[in-house]
This record gives sequence, structure tokens and C-alpha cells, in this order.
Amino acid sequence: MSTAMSLSERADALEHDQMTKLGECYVAKSLLYNLADGKRTLGSRPPGARLLMGEDPRLPPMPRKPTLIDYFRLRFSPAQQHLLQSANLAQKNGLPEKTVLACLLHDISVAGFIRADHGYWGAQLIEPYVDEEVAWSVRVHQALRFFPDESVGYEYPKAYVQLFGEGYRPEPYVVAEYERARGHRWYMTARMICLNDLYSFDPNLEIEIEQFEDIIGRHFRQPAEGLGNDDSPSAHMWRTLQRPCNAL
Ligand SMILES: [Fe+2]
Ligand SMILES: [Fe+2]
Repeated sequence: MSTAMSLSERADALEHDQMTKLGECYVAKSLLYNLADGKRTLGSRPPGARLLMGEDPRLPPMPRKPTLIDYFRLRFSPAQQHLLQSANLAQKNGLPEKTVLACLLHDISVAGFIRADHGYWGAQLIEPYVDEEVAWSVRVHQALRFFPDESVGYEYPKAYVQLFGEGYRPEPYVVAEYERARGHRWYMTARMICLNDLYSFDPNLEIEIEQFEDIIGRHFRQPAEGLGNDDSPSAHMWRTLQRPCNAL
């Protein structure tokens, strides 16, 4: 018989370890986290356990007044290299600062929040803090990236054939968004996101968020009380990133 722990034993050990770190608090996972595992449940609280409210000791502590850069450093996944490398490319290509910022934030939802409908979630997250053109471009890049534009040499990404299969076709709402965006005055900004979108990480290139500190300073309206502590329409989304497992 194998002495190695079975999968469920390992899961139990991990849960125990996490409960210990959490001071016997129970993490009440949102439905969405469970749906992602194919489960329609809110889980069940062990008898007597308190629910986690407030800081999550498993995550790096955030400063009292967090900035966009703090979220990059302390919350976003390593997938943020995709954002940093795309913005770096846009900068190398001599694009305007606002477009570099759009590239830096285009997949902020994938790297930092939620994957599905990432253009829409990402735009909503940043909308109160950036120029309207930046948020609009982040929203519609989700649709544009499925459609070629020969005028700028943009083709349907080969990576998508591999990732989504030969037969994948965008949903009708994506097609409709593309049709609306085509005639829009900011179309080219969103198209530039697609053009500078690197579809894979360059493992030999490590771009730091600090490279964009000045651009962020000039084009991202950082609230004085801290991103998430303000009363913007998306402040609650940033707070959710700070404390993603608050029970309520
Ligand atoms: Fe994207
Ligand atoms: Fe991207």
C-alpha cells in the first residue's frame, strides 16, 4: 500500500492547515468559487466555527491606503506579466501614454479578478479612475480580438485555435459589440490593445510594474483614501480583492 497521502487526505490536511492559520475561522466561499468547481453550494460551516470577516491571514497584508501598484504587487496573479509585457511592447512601439495604460490594464480582470467576460469586468473596475477612452477600449478589446483587421496587420490569433478549438465561434453579443465598435471614434485605441497583446509569456523577460509608475501617476486617478476605500461605483470590487473571503 502506498504511504503517500491520497488526494482527499491531502485536501483535508490543507483545510486543517488553513483553519489553523485562520484561527479556526471558516472561509465562507462565494457561490462563484464553488461554481468554478462545478458545485452549486455555499459549503457547510463546521459546527461552532466562526466565519472569516476582515483580513485574510493567508494573503499578503495590504497597506491602509492601497494604490493600483499595491494591487499588482500584493493581489494579482503572476499572469500580470502578460499585462506588463503588453504595455512594455506598446511603449516600445511609441504609442501614446493613454494607450500604454490601456494595454497595461486590458486583462486586469483575468490577472486580478475574474476571467469570464473579462473585458467588461476590467472596464468596470477601472472606469471611475481612468479616461473614458481607456475604459471603453478595455471593454471592447474582448470582442475585437476575435476579428482580424488587415489595415493594421491583425489576424485571428493562432493561439485561440489551440485554446478554443477550430470550430469556436464568438457568441452573438460579442459579434454585436464588434459591429458597434467598428465605427466608433476610439476603435483604433482598442485595436492597438489587440495588436500589442502578447499571447504568451516571454519567460526570459521580466517587466516590473515600476516601469509604468509615471504613466499610472499621470493617467490613473488614485483616490487619496486608498483604492477601494473610496465611494466610486467600483470601489466595492477593489475591496473584494482586498478581502475576497469576507462572509458578507
Ligand atoms: Fe483580453
Ligand atoms: Fe491580453
